[in-house]
Amino acid sequence: MTGGAGYIGSHVVRTLQSAGHEVVIVDDLSTGDARRVPGVPLVPLDLAEAASREPLAQAMHEHGVTSVIHLAARKQVGESVERPLWYCGQNVGGLAHVLGAMERASVGSIVYSSSAAVYGSVSEDLVAEDAALEPLSPYGRTKLAGEWLLRDAARAHGVRGVALRYFNVAGAGAPELGDTVVANLVTIVLDRITRGLRPQVYGTDYPTDDGSCIRDYVHVVDLAEAHVATLDHLAAGGPVGEALNVGRGTGVSVLEVLAVLGEVCGLDTTPEVVARRVGDPARVVAAVDRIAQDVRWSARADLRAILESAWAAWQSGPPAI
Ligand SMILES: NC(=O)c1ccc[n+]([C@@H]2O[C@H](COP(=O)([O-])OP(=O)(O)OC[C@H]3O[C@@H](n4cnc5c(N)ncnc54)[C@H](O)[C@@H]3O)[C@@H](O)[C@H]2O)c1
Repeated sequence: MTGGAGYIGSHVVRTLQSAGHEVVIVDDLSTGDARRVPGVPLVPLDLAEAASREPLAQAMHEHGVTSVIHLAARKQVGESVERPLWYCGQNVGGLAHVLGAMERASVGSIVYSSSAAVYGSVSEDLVAEDAALEPLSPYGRTKLAGEWLLRDAARAHGVRGVALRYFNVAGAGAPELGDTVVANLVTIVLDRITRGLRPQVYGTDYPTDDGSCIRDYVHVVDLAEAHVATLDHLAAGGPVGEALNVGRGTGVSVLEVLAVLGEVCGLDTTPEVVARRVGDPARVVAAVDRIAQDVRWSARADLRAILESAWAAWQSGPPAI
């Protein structure tokens, strides 16, 4: 599994182990932290380097790898706008090297981390997998290019792949596994309110009930379980080459998140309303029937459970050495 020392990856590792799978991680620890995955074999490689392909294929042989879960990537939208070429090398190049190593080591199946960012500005109430794919950022375009590459590799080399399009991932499965990067709504708000600052809301004049943007928040543990369910689906010979949404199928507004987070933390989350950000769609909520039907997975945790676990992890800080 690549990117296993990261926020989502470390949850996937634990869920795989609980389901009886053996795991080996490949990670350059650029944003990951080995303390999240103690005792799990970790091969340090920068997958964006073409030179990683040989040692990666060798590690696959040595560890008897049968399937790959590829999460290693860069995920900061703003950074991708400033460094699009580097993002392409990291995210698309990294996947190409993983697919090349899989071919060399005769590893036949892969679950690939994609993102709701592949959709861009959506108009549907629920976004289905066959909605228009018009990513708004270089980051989203690298994720979409990865999906295309996966499909082409399936045709040319027979690799069996599924892309999971994650919606808004939050929460933690254990206090030491929390998201330490302040880049999405939940961590941004936690960062501000614990520093005594008011959370900022980018616009309350959207065409939604309370005027703030609506998103689909999924618990990282539910997301991790979606990976295991997808691996089982691949192993059982299920249809491949697809992209599947991973969300709850329930929309929650920014103001609702703030209200529940205030109750959970016991801190004041009264927002400061600031100008809209460019490129924020009013509503992005997943249609989740395809993953429920094909992979037999659906999310269980509700918003409060997501926020309670995020708060517990935030208070405990990064893992101790
Ligand atoms: N967090 C989200 O809300 C979200 C939403 C949609 C999709 N995703 C995707 O999920 C995946 C994991 O995201 P995350 O939130 O856990 O991020 P993260 O930064 O915590 O994890 C990424 C991991 O990949 C490793 N990595 C990065 N580049 C690498 C490289 N070139 N070679 C080897 N290892 C490398 C990092 O060290 C880290 O351990 C990414 O592919 C991301 O695009 C995340």
